[in-house]
This record gives sequence, C-alpha cells and structure tokens, in this order.
Amino acid sequence: MSQEEMKQRAAEAALAFIDDDTTVVGVGTGTTINYFIEALAKIKVRLEGAVSSSVETTRRLKARGIPVLDLNGVWPLPIYVDGADESTRSLQLIKGGGGALTGEKIVAAASEKFICIADETKLVDVLGDYPLPVEVVPMARSYVGRELLRRGGQPVLRENFKTDQGNLILDVYNLQILEPAKLEAELNDIAGIVTVGLFALRPADILLLGTADSVKELRR
Ligand code: 5RP
Repeated sequence: MSQEEMKQRAAEAALAFIDDDTTVVGVGTGTTINYFIEALAKIKVRLEGAVSSSVETTRRLKARGIPVLDLNGVWPLPIYVDGADESTRSLQLIKGGGGALTGEKIVAAASEKFICIADETKLVDVLGDYPLPVEVVPMARSYVGRELLRRGGQPVLRENFKTDQGNLILDVYNLQILEPAKLEAELNDIAGIVTVGLFALRPADILLLGTADSVKELRR
C-alpha cells in the first residue's frame, strides 16, 4: 500500500470522532488533510461549518461547499484535525512542512481535542530528522538565523516562500530534539520568531496512524 493510501486511511478514520452533536470542526493543512476534507464533504449537511488553518484549506473547504467560520466567532471548538511531519509516541509533533504553522498552532491551541492524522512513516523516536520549520518576521531573518546556529541548528531559508501571514520560514536542520517542550518554549522567546513548528506544549490528544493493513490509534 502506498503512503498516499495510508494517509487517506488515517483521514477517513478521523470522521468517526465527529459525532452527531459536533457542528464545527477545525481543519489543518496538507496532503493528508486534503483527504480529510474530501471525507468531511460527505457529512457536511450536519455541520455548521469548519474553522480553517490556512488560505489553501479555506479554498478547498469552500470548493467542497463547506462553510468556513471565523475562529473569533467559534467557542468552544470541540475538535481539530491536522497532519504532521513527525510525531513521537507522546504525540509531540513537528509541523509546518506546508508552511501553515501559525494558523495551525492557533487553531490547535483553541481546540478542545486535537486529532493528528498521518501515515505510519511519520512516527519517530526522537523529533528532528525532519527539519524544524520556524516562521520569522522578514527583518529578523539574520538575527534569528544566528540564534538558531548558536543552538546547534542549521537554518536554511525556504526559497520563494511567504506564509499566509507574510513572513519567512527557516527550516532548521541537524536538531536532535530530546526535550521538545523546553526547546519550543526557548525558541518562542526569541524576538522575531512568530511560530515554531514544534507542537509539544500543546501536543495532539489522539494520533491516527494509517498503516498497510489498519489504522493505529495512539493516545496521550
Ligand atoms: C502543514 C503541516 C502539515 O500538516 C504537515 O506538513 C504534514 O503534511 P502532509 O499531510 O502533506 O504530509 O504542518 O503546515
């Protein structure tokens, strides 16, 4: 079975967590989430709408006839579904491969339950093989780069890319992230960093991993 099929399998399994009382769903960004949007379209009649994490997801939701709601007008947000670039068994994540980390972090923070969907290749023992995306305000690019170098990372500017918020992304290589929550808090404190692609202070609550023959469920 291909990686795409495993992503689709995880995405479809997430539908089971949306019960009849759930009228609003937070929706992440990425290729796995694109399968989830397709699945969500099948139950859209019982949804008031979705809170989107990015411009691309907003476009896809609207194209499927799913109303997009402003997060400011939604409370509580019972459930958020999103993908990941890496996850540990304690459901701490690296995200932001698609560059939507700021919207994703906000919607994840505002949600009561965060369900992460991924194929099994995303499960790791230690975070950091995947380069850590860090969103920076353009004028802080060099300063933040030096701060990341001081911490042992190799920041590389993502070429020809601007986030939905108009910022840049530094992809940081060579980090072995043994204490994800500590590193997230430390990087959050550096002036000019908007969002760190570590989701450790607010990890996922449930991880659905598509495998070749099933979907594995991991809980925190
Ligand atoms: C986008 C993300 C994605 O969730 C992450 O990159 C995984 O993407 P995919 O589902 O395409 O493998 O964080 O910013």
